[in-house]
Amino acid sequence: MTAPQDPEEPPVTGAPLREEARALLLSLLQEEREAIVNAGTDWIIRRSPDLQGRRPRDETVMLVQREFDAYRDLIVDGDPSRRDSFIEFTTTFRASSEFRISTLLRGFLCFKRGVEAVMQARSLSAELSLEIVGTLDELYFETSSRMVDVYADKLLAVLESTQAQLMQREKMAALGGLVAGVAHEINTPMGVAVTAASLLHDSVVALGRDFDGGQLRKSSLATFLRDAREAADLTLGNLRRASELVTSFKKIAVDQSHTTRRKVSLGPYLREVVSSLGPLYKRGPHRLDLVIDDSLTAELDPGVLSQILTNLVQNALVHAFADDSPGVMLLLLQRHGDDGAELAFSDDGRGLSEVEKRRLFEPFFTTRRGAGGSGLGMHIVHSLVTQSLHGRITVDSTLGEGTTLRICFPLRAQITGAAPI
Ligand SMILES: Nc1ncnc2c1ncn2[C@@H]1O[C@H](COP(=O)(O)OP(=O)(O)OP(=O)(O)O)[C@@H](O)[C@H]1O
Ligand SMILES: [Mg+2]
Repeated sequence: MTAPQDPEEPPVTGAPLREEARALLLSLLQEEREAIVNAGTDWIIRRSPDLQGRRPRDETVMLVQREFDAYRDLIVDGDPSRRDSFIEFTTTFRASSEFRISTLLRGFLCFKRGVEAVMQARSLSAELSLEIVGTLDELYFETSSRMVDVYADKLLAVLESTQAQLMQREKMAALGGLVAGVAHEINTPMGVAVTAASLLHDSVVALGRDFDGGQLRKSSLATFLRDAREAADLTLGNLRRASELVTSFKKIAVDQSHTTRRKVSLGPYLREVVSSLGPLYKRGPHRLDLVIDDSLTAELDPGVLSQILTNLVQNALVHAFADDSPGVMLLLLQRHGDDGAELAFSDDGRGLSEVEKRRLFEPFFTTRRGAGGSGLGMHIVHSLVTQSLHGRITVDSTLGEGTTLRICFPLRAQITGAAPI
């Protein structure tokens, strides 16, 4: 107890009181376990009348005891392990668990109310009681902060793994759709090739029969040769078409995580790609202008950029422009935000209808079916942008006024799998 004070003197605060309060708290925790637990239990039952019906008093006593022991270990022995395992337990994600974070927080209040009740029974001085309550409040603050950290870490881990699972599921669904699409697309040329080959087979059998019977005429040999050439052309053309589809499919199926990333100076690299695409358009009336920020460097697989740009230029030449009137393409590279780049490719060609815009990235969407279009180009571009560059692609287009494709991507490499939250 503090010595009586001279009314002229300022009250004694700080270390001596702290020490006295701490000694008292330790003795309360060692001697009054039952009284503190009982008072804490009474308090929580009074405060939460619905508890009375739901949980037998014994169980509530047990919970308050657990909390008491955790805090006693912490205060008396400086041993946080029991408290931490309780935090671990209450923050473990279990939908059906009746122990929630509030259990731990309310449990602390039971403990504190229990200590207060016992202090009241001992008629301690207000100053000393305040000092003890202050110490307990600090403890509460530290414990709840710790619990929030632990809980937030666990939630983040759950979010990250959910996100990774969702991405995986999305990829599998997209791949499933693609496989069905490819099977459907390949079916037609393969079917035609098989029909042509079996017609050829029948003709060869008939020809052989005529030859063996010595009845082969010049005219039937000529007919055979004509039919055989037609059948061979059909077979060959359709097998080529099927083979092209398989090649496109292989391009999509490339596992982006095995590509080679390196530091690339974007401006020079894009100029190189554009000049390699020159033969596609230089002899015609069209031109490609560049507006490039040469200061940008990115960590990526440069082949991906080349693949993207090749598809965009080819599309503009094939779909946007009429052969005779000159078309202008513009490639723009600029900084986007603090650590990103924006690559925009525009043409002033025919533009896209609303439906075409909506379906542009769908696999097998093409307006040139039967004329060399597989409808995989923009789908591949979309996969490359999202999966390899970890960026986004948007389309902006009005019929008759041209099309702009805008690609934004981070300059620094991202971890494959889960994007940062
Ligand atoms: N710049 C553009 N201007 C007008 N239409 C376009 C443009 N780019 C794409 N399209 C339209 O979008 C469709 C889909 O393009 P995508 O590149 O995916 O397939 P494709 O060019 O038809 O075939 P592939 O690229 O597989 O040979 C095209 O058929 C065309 O109708
Ligand atoms: Mg294309």
